[in-house]
Amino acid sequence: MKGIILAGGHGTRLYPMTVALSKQLMPVYDKPMIYYPLSILLLAGIKDILVISTPEDTCVYDKLLGDGKRIGISISYKIQDTPRGLADAFILGADFIGDDSVCLILGDNIFYGQNMTGILNNAIEKLDGATIFGYPVKNPTAFGVVEFDKDNNVISIEEKPEKPKSNFVVPGLYFYDNNVVEIAKNVKPSARGEIEITAVNNEYLGKGKLKVSLLGRGIAWLDTGTPQGLLKAAEYVEAVQARQGFYISCIEEIAYRRGFITAEQLLALGQELHTTDYGKYIISIAEEALEE
Ligand code: DAU
Repeated sequence: MKGIILAGGHGTRLYPMTVALSKQLMPVYDKPMIYYPLSILLLAGIKDILVISTPEDTCVYDKLLGDGKRIGISISYKIQDTPRGLADAFILGADFIGDDSVCLILGDNIFYGQNMTGILNNAIEKLDGATIFGYPVKNPTAFGVVEFDKDNNVISIEEKPEKPKSNFVVPGLYFYDNNVVEIAKNVKPSARGEIEITAVNNEYLGKGKLKVSLLGRGIAWLDTGTPQGLLKAAEYVEAVQARQGFYISCIEEIAYRRGFITAEQLLALGQELHTTDYGKYIISIAEEALEE
């Protein structure tokens, strides 16, 4: 399976912070926002990743993440000229996807919690068409909203409805088989002029090939769309890390635990960053592994 991180857009809701800097590079406590979605792809065992961003910012992501070799993966880049819609990821990524299946994650989506790896593995192993997730929120109107019938079957996904038919919304993490490329190419722009991921999902739904897996209380899906959301996400990461001592979305640690790099390589990566707590954390994981 291939992985795509969509990290473009204008980030207007975070202006003036994002006038000169891409939203998905904003710090969320101690790391750039894109580390969080990248870590989800790594947890899923996905080693071949395409980062899509704007003409101005793509080179900055390249500077940050490079070709991925340092953490044992492959990262390539593609420019999106204008924010045409989320489904554009599959059109821009068609060559990259090739004959494979694909996981798309939005560069501003942060997930954390119990059994995240199990949830991801399950989605990949059982993929038959499309798998997306449903997450309960208090304010569903800003999202794709799942409608269920009385037997809890999904009957539609509505994009930003004025009157949401449930409080389960679709977070920015999607798994698709290879048909997604053709489906995306045929999506017509919506009223807001975008080729919507919701249209792709409804296409799968119509073919009986959409699975909506509900995420429970054990998973945090954090909002980074507003200054307040960004601050709360940072506070959450700080609180968990300070209390447990485990880092959220330390990409080097995950690469090691998934077997993409050795403990020796992990130690070298930690030493590069030894002046920071982040680097010291990596060193401690590596030293523990080398002692075993
Ligand atoms: O976050 C989950 C929601 O994401 C879903 O519930 C919705 O169904 C889905 O449409 C999407 O809604 P948003 O209105 O939040 O999408 P937005 O246009 O804000 O784009 C999400 C991120 O993707 C944002 O950080 C910018 C980036 N983006 C967006 C578009 C449209 C791109 O990189 N390229 C694009 O063309």
